[in-house]
Amino acid sequence: MKNIITIDGPAGSGKSTLAKELAEHLGFKYLNTGAMYRALTLLVLQKNIDPDNEDLCEKIASKMAFEIQGKGISSILFINGKEVPTEIKTEIVDKNVSFVSKHVGVRSVMAQKQRDLGLKGNIVVEGRDAGTKIFPDAESKIFVTASIEERARRRYEEYKKKGVLGVNLEKTKDNMKKRDDIDSNRKHSPLTRAKNSIVIDTTDMTKEEQLNKTIEIISRKDIL
Ligand code: DC
Repeated sequence: MKNIITIDGPAGSGKSTLAKELAEHLGFKYLNTGAMYRALTLLVLQKNIDPDNEDLCEKIASKMAFEIQGKGISSILFINGKEVPTEIKTEIVDKNVSFVSKHVGVRSVMAQKQRDLGLKGNIVVEGRDAGTKIFPDAESKIFVTASIEERARRRYEEYKKKGVLGVNLEKTKDNMKKRDDIDSNRKHSPLTRAKNSIVIDTTDMTKEEQLNKTIEIISRKDIL
């Protein structure tokens, strides 16, 4: 058994925190596939490439070598030998990442790299299509969601903590809705719930409650 757990869901649903804490609890590696698409988007923007240019986006993606070092909350994603930069979590990347990640060529390159990273198992994979397309045979699949108001509030609090200028709650909510719309309605591997996934609505749940619920779900699957 490979022990692959997938955690999918929309932006701001709380999936990153949950996935990291779960990986820590299990002593598994943690893979944030959103960080891979964000790192690609950052490179595309730095090279002044149009995010709509599928061929160039795919070319850049194919040259990216990913590696995970460490386990649990100490898992670190390396790209071409360097730690993933903090700039991947900026508003400009937020605004452009859905355009870069909707290209089929980009997705197939990234999907292969994600499967290679997960090959050895004992891993928690977080994303949009981890349970549907990347690891359809994963032992446990969780779909994390929360109301748009709560998701926007969480993202806005993150921006405020980081001192990001020029954002407000309404603008954050608008950007998030736009990203939800593109991520859920794109032609290739849109954000959808895997049929055999279990939904956790985190709107009114503490982080501890989310982790406990997830542990309860996966313990039914013989992973623990
Ligand atoms: O999880 P996140 O919000 O950091 O992801 C950023 C973007 O990357 C998201 O808007 C869509 C894209 N993404 C994707 O298309 N497929 C994934 N498996 C993960 C993220």
